Amino acid sequence: MSHILVTGGAGFIGANFVLDWLAQPRADGIVNVDKLTYAGNLKTLASLENDKRHVFSRTDICDRAALDRLLAEYRPSAVVHFAAESHVDRSIHGPGEFVQTNIVGTFTLLESVRAYWAALKREVQAGFRFLHISTDEVFGSLGADDPRFSETTAYAPNSPYSASKAASDHLVRAYHHTYGLPVLTTNCCCA
Ligand SMILES: NC(=O)c1ccc[n+]([C@@H]2O[C@H](COP(=O)([O-])OP(=O)(O)OC[C@H]3O[C@@H](n4cnc5c(N)ncnc54)[C@H](O)[C@@H]3O)[C@@H](O)[C@H]2O)c1
Repeated sequence: MSHILVTGGAGFIGANFVLDWLAQPRADGIVNVDKLTYAGNLKTLASLENDKRHVFSRTDICDRAALDRLLAEYRPSAVVHFAAESHVDRSIHGPGEFVQTNIVGTFTLLESVRAYWAALKREVQAGFRFLHISTDEVFGSLGADDPRFSETTAYAPNSPYSASKAASDHLVRAYHHTYGLPVLTTNCCCA
């Protein structure tokens, strides 16, 4: 069976992505890589308990060896990267975990994926994608009369959370420009 690899697939947005994806009748399987912090909840995925298309691995994205093993075993055609420390207030009280997961974790994942992707056959390489889920908060705050953010808005992160996500966005961009890794970044907003 073909697979995609999803990080943070037991979290709020990631779990809904996993359920939506597997609701498609001919969907590829998912390797769901999640550390199960306070924010992860496998109960959201209870309906997939007997679904062989869903492989769950309790793994930290900072664990390079574990990521290498999963990529080698499942040979995913894409990586969808949701895993993050994501709550602004928690980042004010304890920024260290945000730097670790959002920056070091994204870096570790990029390194693992780069090595995997570089060894793929050329035609498989061309179709591969690394989708990085980021946030509109990297652009700062909007006043009531300000124009909307766009792809050309300057980065202006205001919290340790948004600064760590901004750093991860820059790493993802750099891996495209430096190594050619096919990446996409979405700076979505959850209103
Ligand atoms: N929720 C929002 O309002 C919002 C808005 C815009 C962007 N985003 C982004 O979307 C993504 C998902 O957000 P969410 O609200 O679902 O987050 P969430 O906090 O609900 O879930 C994050 C998931 O990542 C996992 N995780 C945390 N650290 C990990 C690590 N080191 N290794 C592996 N897994 C780890 C957690 O266990 C959890 O399941 C994040 O990258 C976030 O920055 C969220």
